[in-house]
Amino acid sequence: MQQSVSRQDFDRWMVPAYSPASFVPDRAEGSRLWDQNGKEYIDFAGGIAVNALGHAHPELQQALMQQAAKLWHTGNGYTNAPILRLAKQLIDATFAERVFFCNSGAEANEAALKLARKYAHDIFGPEKSGIIAFKTAFPGRTLLTVSAGGQPAYSKDFAPLPGGIEHAVFNDLDSVAALINDQTAAVIVEPIQGEGGVMPAEPAFLCGLRELCDRHNALLIFDEVQSGVGRTGSLYAYMHYGVTPDVLSTAKALGGGFPIGAMLTTEKLGAVLNVGSHGTTYGGNPLAGAVGGKVMELINRPDVLEGVQLRHRWFTDGLNEINQRLHLFKEIRGLGLLIGCVLNEDFSGKAKQFSLAAAEEGVMVLIAGANVVRFAPALIISEQDVQEGLARFARACESVIKGGS
Ligand SMILES: Cc1ncc(COP(=O)(O)O)c(C=O)c1O
Repeated sequence: MQQSVSRQDFDRWMVPAYSPASFVPDRAEGSRLWDQNGKEYIDFAGGIAVNALGHAHPELQQALMQQAAKLWHTGNGYTNAPILRLAKQLIDATFAERVFFCNSGAEANEAALKLARKYAHDIFGPEKSGIIAFKTAFPGRTLLTVSAGGQPAYSKDFAPLPGGIEHAVFNDLDSVAALINDQTAAVIVEPIQGEGGVMPAEPAFLCGLRELCDRHNALLIFDEVQSGVGRTGSLYAYMHYGVTPDVLSTAKALGGGFPIGAMLTTEKLGAVLNVGSHGTTYGGNPLAGAVGGKVMELINRPDVLEGVQLRHRWFTDGLNEINQRLHLFKEIRGLGLLIGCVLNEDFSGKAKQFSLAAAEEGVMVLIAGANVVRFAPALIISEQDVQEGLARFARACESVIKGGS
């Protein structure tokens, strides 16, 4: 007999680093999820842009179960077929010629930043070590990535922080030009900032970053942890913009819910991470490789990627209709199925209230800061689930207006 547990047990047993919803998810299928009491939710949150193929996708289940019956883990003293196949899929589908696997987005960015510093040190000498990141970025929670994040709220309590990182303003090329010089090893940027408020980069900004990096022999790192694997309607957002980075980090949707991260780069740059220079016990695990390979196979198809644009319109049409009636958002922005509704002055700072009211009505949404309600659903969500979920979200908005949440 398993012990029965409830949301209250979280507060009794867990470090209070999170404040999870009042309900406990129990099972899910596609874009519908049920809690311990059997209440149904439509999932517009997608496990924070992770469940790109929804929940319990039959082909992902099969890939995981088949691998689970065969080989789980060996450690990185050995390689394995599923992870090699996934590496080849990523290489065939992108600019990359070499891949490093890890377990999360933060680790992928950590690997990217370490690669950039090692490349700069090896080729140009130890003075070349500067990193330029952006003030509203979110590259992760390790000490290096949280320092790159540029949000003191997430880093100040953990000082002393790693040095050599400066912060420019997203979409402001002049602010980067003012910081970059020949001692800069890398610029790290999200092509569309997720946690920072669902803010797409201006195309000219990314082109300008590419030029500045080339001029100063600095590596351009795209953090595509949230924007990657089909989220914007391109396999990676760099393809949408037509600006190719030197290094790209990917995670979240790559495993469709199974933890995996990867750093993609060129043969020349990848070569600096020689034997023993970097590593992780689980990175490149056969289970993650098997699931990631199936995710790539199912998402990197024209019909799925074009379907993301179609679904973008279902969402934005529905959200615009809600807004015309209720006057809540000053902007609805984003790319593909990463969409943010920016609350107007009357509702400023109340994004959390909208997400709580949405859960009450049976739809899960995300926030991105205090002013943005964010949607990152499955890339294959059905029209019926989108319409039903938006109807529930509209009721949630009405209840916030009435002061019910
Ligand atoms: C753009 C971006 N980079 C990195 C991360 C960190 O990923 P993880 O939480 O898997 O470490 C996130 C997480 O939200 C993210 O959105």
